[in-house]
Amino acid sequence: MTATKALIIPAAGSGSRMQKEIPKPYLEVKSRTILERTIRVFLPLDSLRQIIVATSEWYLDRARGILETMLPDHITGQVVAGGQQRQDSIRNALRVTGDVTLVLVHDAVRPFVKLEHIEACCRAASETGAAALGIPSRDTIKRIDGRRLVLDTPSRATMWQAQTPQVFKKPLLVEAYERAAADQFTGTDDASLVERMGRPVRMIEGDRSNIKLTYPVDLELAALMIDKTEG
Ligand code: CTP
Ligand code: MG
Repeated sequence: MTATKALIIPAAGSGSRMQKEIPKPYLEVKSRTILERTIRVFLPLDSLRQIIVATSEWYLDRARGILETMLPDHITGQVVAGGQQRQDSIRNALRVTGDVTLVLVHDAVRPFVKLEHIEACCRAASETGAAALGIPSRDTIKRIDGRRLVLDTPSRATMWQAQTPQVFKKPLLVEAYERAAADQFTGTDDASLVERMGRPVRMIEGDRSNIKLTYPVDLELAALMIDKTEG
């Protein structure tokens, strides 16, 4: 039996680096919103039961409309209000997850993720408890101090860039979020909340097309990538 799954999509950011009036998930690329493009990739995922979108209060109805038109009967759609930080948005969504084995977290603004990589993360999370998609770092990474003096240069072979999805056994993610809240810890991804409990997280190698649409130029790149795949 394949593990039952809930997908959380944080979509409540303001998109400050994108410098647009409309937040990134609701921008259209090639006449479809980025959020729709992202959701569409996950629909064929086996035993996906629930999709929860966390969004700002002005976009609650918009997100509901998108889910209503897109989701087949076997997937329940829910929309929750996001929070100040990405982590707060995901915490709000996590509260309404149902009785599932795995919880996937995937950024609304990564529409180019591939189904095979999502599936590989789910398999790894079923074994290890937690798994994240990522890629080996292209650049050498420097650790610096407050004055930007280099502390050290970790071997590049050990440095990976984390992407999403990040997938977890539900009780593990719930505990990680509870502990982070109790300790007032804010991480820049979900896996880090699990790591700080000393629990293993497996990295799954994805590819460089799974970009997080962040800057205006990324929209041009996205249009080119869609032209190439959709013709
Ligand atoms: N996000 C969220 N709640 C927040 C902040 C971010 O749900 N309080 C979501 C974003 O909507 C996005 C994902 O987390 O889908 C990744 O965040 P990022 O790319 O940083 O988006 P923004 O925070 O919107 O952009 P910026 O940092 O440029 O303001
Ligand atoms: Mg942000």
